Amino acid sequence: MHVPTLIARKREGEELSTGEIRQLIEGYTTGEIPDYQMSAFAMAVYFRGMTAVETAALTKAMMASGDCFSHRAGHPPVVDKHSTGGIGDKVSLILAPLVACAGCWVPMVSGRGLGITGGTLDKLESIPGFNVRISLDTAAAQLDRLGVVMMGQTDRFCPADKKLYSLRDVTGTVPSIALITASIMSKKLSETLDRLVLDVKYGTGAFMRTKKDAETLAAGMVAVGREMGVEVTALLHPMSEPTGRAVGNALEVIEALECLDGRGPADLRQVTLDLSEAIAGVPRAELERMLDDGTARRKFDELVATQGGKPEDLPRLAEIHRAPVIREVHAPASGVVGKVDAGMIGQAALQLGAGRAKASDGVDFAVGFDRLVKTGDEIRHGQPLCRIHARNAVDFDMAEAMVERAIRLRD
Ligand code: URA
Repeated sequence: MHVPTLIARKREGEELSTGEIRQLIEGYTTGEIPDYQMSAFAMAVYFRGMTAVETAALTKAMMASGDCFSHRAGHPPVVDKHSTGGIGDKVSLILAPLVACAGCWVPMVSGRGLGITGGTLDKLESIPGFNVRISLDTAAAQLDRLGVVMMGQTDRFCPADKKLYSLRDVTGTVPSIALITASIMSKKLSETLDRLVLDVKYGTGAFMRTKKDAETLAAGMVAVGREMGVEVTALLHPMSEPTGRAVGNALEVIEALECLDGRGPADLRQVTLDLSEAIAGVPRAELERMLDDGTARRKFDELVATQGGKPEDLPRLAEIHRAPVIREVHAPASGVVGKVDAGMIGQAALQLGAGRAKASDGVDFAVGFDRLVKTGDEIRHGQPLCRIHARNAVDFDMAEAMVERAIRLRD
């Protein structure tokens, strides 16, 4: 296979064969095909798209690049949810332990920050010691004992997505329906699931800007999943304002803990319950009870302890990750909050250091936003619109200017 020719054919909008796509992914996974050729290929796919047959072939090739979970006989329902990415979306941190409490197994394989959206793995790593790089054998044993595991792609498990995901993050090739479908569904199919719910976001803070594009993405992912024997449902959610009131790695874990303690913002609790209900196989009231009486929180603490963290660190996360500059932004006038632009807030969080500019970059766990106002909140002149957590005063000023553009008040 001559890779430059293959890239050029995709650039010209040709349909590639299943065999060509498989060889490309195999070559990229083994390192034979370098990042620069894969970047060019991803950009060609971004502009030209892929047919349904090509997208399915890419998904299967990426799944076949590594091992898959093989659950023991007599296992309980194996379920999961995956989001197409949003701002302040910390639902996975709550849903995974909650649904495990309902008697399901949740082998959740997640990603890092992608574009302006945060990543579950980065958020989990803000818990000191939390290890997301675990082997499939360790994960399987943990699943049997605890019912939940939260991990990342490894060199053995979804290795093609591991490489391509971080490449797309820094090459402007994230918002492609084919690449998102293959990335998400290759991970989920490797988990060998019975049921999957997809949280497909649309709006300024999502990769799909319109509901119509989100519907197309959802339909494609559902089709690939069903073809592989998984019961898949997709729920569409707008991402015009951030989920909850916190954006940033440790700040989002703190808010997720509030929700796990039966508190936290109403929109976060609602979307978590909607998605959990779609897969857990128990009534919503039961899920609510497990959030309110500490059952889900205890499972999260056990998860943290099992994966190398210390539950006693959780109440201290704000001290552990304290940004040097923490200051409020004040309302310039009185009014009702008409808009909190998720895309702008996500971009500001990225520039504060919550995401990456190069694949080799680390993320700053401490920076971001909390106490963000929500659409419909009534605000008086001078009251806080949010708190910015920044590395220095220059970054604070940059984020403040972006917040002033992101939040609109009406009379
Ligand atoms: N989540 C993923 O795992 N992959 C994507 O491409 C987008 C969201």
